[in-house]
Amino acid sequence: MKPIVSHAKEYGYIFSSSEIYDGLSAVYDYGPYGVELKNNIRNYWWKSMVQMHENVVGLDSAIFMHPEIWKASGHVDAFNDPLIDNKDSKKRYRADQLIEDYLEKYHKKIAKDTEKARKRFGAEFDEAQFLATNPNVLRNKAKIEEINFRMNEALKKEDFAALKALIEELGIADPETGSKNWTDVRMFNLMFSTQLGTIAGETGKLYLRPETAQGIFVNFLNVLKSTRQKIPFGIAQTGKAFRNEIVARQFIFRMREFEQMEMQFFVRPGEEEKWYTYWKEKRMKWHRTLYYQDIKINNSNRPSFDQILRFHKHEKLAHYARAAVDIEFHFPFGFRELEGIHSRGDFDLARHQEFSGKKLRYFDPELGSGYVPSVVETSIGLDRMFLAVFSQALDEETLEDGSQRTVLRLPAELAPVKVAVLPLLKKDGLPEEARQVFDRLKLEFMCQYDEKDAIGKRYRRQDAIGTPYCLTVDHQTLEDQTLTIRERDSMKQERIPLEKVGEVVKEKVQMENLLRQL
Ligand code: GAP
Repeated sequence: MKPIVSHAKEYGYIFSSSEIYDGLSAVYDYGPYGVELKNNIRNYWWKSMVQMHENVVGLDSAIFMHPEIWKASGHVDAFNDPLIDNKDSKKRYRADQLIEDYLEKYHKKIAKDTEKARKRFGAEFDEAQFLATNPNVLRNKAKIEEINFRMNEALKKEDFAALKALIEELGIADPETGSKNWTDVRMFNLMFSTQLGTIAGETGKLYLRPETAQGIFVNFLNVLKSTRQKIPFGIAQTGKAFRNEIVARQFIFRMREFEQMEMQFFVRPGEEEKWYTYWKEKRMKWHRTLYYQDIKINNSNRPSFDQILRFHKHEKLAHYARAAVDIEFHFPFGFRELEGIHSRGDFDLARHQEFSGKKLRYFDPELGSGYVPSVVETSIGLDRMFLAVFSQALDEETLEDGSQRTVLRLPAELAPVKVAVLPLLKKDGLPEEARQVFDRLKLEFMCQYDEKDAIGKRYRRQDAIGTPYCLTVDHQTLEDQTLTIRERDSMKQERIPLEKVGEVVKEKVQMENLLRQL
């Protein structure tokens, strides 16, 4: 992670919040390039979910909502993490995460054995067969399953004594100090609260939303009445969510203030399974499409789809879920949840009906009767997606002459700056000509004009920012109205006519390239 964090800072992608005051733990700010990349990822999601689906509409609900909503949603009573403190170091951890980190050791052993075997058997290596038959792998898999089972049973039954016993039995130590002197496990609510105006006490208590989903549920009727949607239909929104995470680490993977991109799809009761499968596949395709661009950029030296993206079915379900699956991404610290797809049944609408006293039903003209719809949810963290894209893109390349270059191989559709316009020299009328190109292109794309330093240095800087194309204006431009376009990844250059520049760039960087493949 170290090179990722320092590159993100050095090149204006991500800064620690309140840095001049020594930072605020697990809160981050997005810099000039970070905000562009974030906007582009959000845009890719929004267009694929809302623009590409006639039966999905958008919403932007407020962060503050009536406090009863969080009682109805179950968050006041059930949005808790099991915590354990180390008595010596005074550090606090999530009990389940200590166990999951312990399990990572077994996952690593399996990966190491697999790599060894791959080297030994070469082209004949059959990974699936190896994983299904090798005694060491099977032993490690069984251990993972057994520990997972015991942890999930303890969490399901809220048996905190069993959770502590498991931590002690496995000999899990404080990751920072090595101490095994643990307190009992306790529950801790993750919602932040604040006060409304001048009203003191419980009546004025407001929560910062821990998920954007509830804003959608409480607007179900408004959207239904104000649009011509019929079930099945979805409501999508993106926005900030807040959680008082105890274990806040791994950079922007787990933050206290983060952004979600969520969609609630309202369906006929009994049709949940069908739509759950539909959205599971749709969302995986969205990820794969992006990753496919990445494979195209990097050719063969990229892991296969299954080595980078996988489904993980939940054993322990959140309080609202009937079925849930994660899309996991292979981050630099291993496979972790990137997105959740949840079958929420009628839990939320039924609870809001009960707590608000308002009917949240749908009259189905095809059935001639009414019901409380069931919901299938897709929920992804924008910051987590940012980390996935950014960590995948950062590359250190050794060139033919032995020199090194740092290059951020972002898919062009997501790159913050689409083109840099560079006069070869800062004289002979080249800056004026380049400025004209820049002024024309900036109407359509995020562009950068740069005339400082030697051209090679300027190319390197754009490589590090992730700019997919550089346009260089040279003396020949003045003679024949052509310029060179340099590709970030191959570093190949070709001459194109000035009048075609806009068209050529558009074809290479437009979001449509991704959307067409979905
Ligand atoms: N409405 C359902 C819901 O909120 P979740 O699994 O708790 O489900 C959904 O969160 C997604 O939000 C996660 O898959 C993750 O990408 C993102 N997320 C959750 N907590 C986060 C945190 N503390 N920091 C960054 N992203 C987070």
